[in-house]
Amino acid sequence: MLDQAPSGPGSRKLDRSPSPVVKADKLLFVHFERPDLDKVERYLLDYGLLVVKKTDNELFLRGTQSQPFIYRATKGPKARFLGLGLSVPEFADLDRLAHAFGRPVEASTLPGGGRMVTLTDPMGVTVQAVQGYTPSPELPLREAIPHNAPNQAVRVNDAQRPDLVPPQVTKLGHLVLETPDFDVSGRWYMDTFGFLPSDVMCLSDGTVVGSFMRLDRGPIPSDHHTLFVALGLESKVDHVAFEVVDLDAVEMGQQIMMAKRYKHAWGVGRHLLGSQIFDYWRDPWGQKHEHYADGDLFDADQQPGYHLMDREGLYQWGPDLPDDFIDARLTPKRLRTILGLMLTDRPRLKRMLALKNAVSKPGRPWQR
Ligand SMILES: [Fe+2]
Repeated sequence: MLDQAPSGPGSRKLDRSPSPVVKADKLLFVHFERPDLDKVERYLLDYGLLVVKKTDNELFLRGTQSQPFIYRATKGPKARFLGLGLSVPEFADLDRLAHAFGRPVEASTLPGGGRMVTLTDPMGVTVQAVQGYTPSPELPLREAIPHNAPNQAVRVNDAQRPDLVPPQVTKLGHLVLETPDFDVSGRWYMDTFGFLPSDVMCLSDGTVVGSFMRLDRGPIPSDHHTLFVALGLESKVDHVAFEVVDLDAVEMGQQIMMAKRYKHAWGVGRHLLGSQIFDYWRDPWGQKHEHYADGDLFDADQQPGYHLMDREGLYQWGPDLPDDFIDARLTPKRLRTILGLMLTDRPRLKRMLALKNAVSKPGRPWQR
């Protein structure tokens, strides 16, 4: 771990944007294409989401918080990630985005309505900025369990008996985007939506290859990361993450998902950067979905940390990271990309290989 900006030959800091176009204030939704809406609905109900609206071609689901929906699935021939939605506080923000990108401000026909501007990030991901939507009434949420401790008696003449049910998902917490060009993609999210670097990931020579980024809401605490943008061979979403109430909800989620025979990816453990207690599951198409609780909160004053990107730094405790968690299979498409980089951009290929080596090394002493 590095506790300050690295000083190797490739080193540089990841500076905040001095004047982003707007400052997004909420992550609203993710959008996937799925060949079978009934199947994705079943998975997400077991996972803890609630259906808002379903048609022959569209499925919208929510959590307990006021976002009208947090998950949109559109029926289509492929299983693929289509995009994400962010809220911006003022109508003037939509105007600024429309002006900066030459895009129209449109009325939203999605649940909750409002107006929106649809952008495409540098890697082709659709990003919809929404303003003026009608918040949904929040749903009753189980209280987080108060823990007795040797120096803290908070529960006397009472017991711990939470129901064994799918965990209540409160909100979409974050997503992890891989991009072949971190400098361009990371910069785009910071310059366009005001994302702030929370923890910056570097190779041993100091080259920045990824960053956990949070929303800039001034003095209002924000999740440690709403986006993690990282260098990868291709543009893709690694996982989407949903908040649940507490550790018991994460563990009970594991029981429910196990009972339903879904494919487990990794957990339960606690991340290092962001501190979340995590558990990862794969949907029927292999897409990773994370249940998490107890993440860090930073306000806008917190300065970024700089860290080596490696396997060890992914978690404080938990089961050993399974090899298939980081998908490094050499598919024909990836092979073509690598061959292309050999011919056109060897420095980038070198960075990719250094990154692959860094995350391939065993993460724990007993694995060495
Ligand atoms: Fe995550």
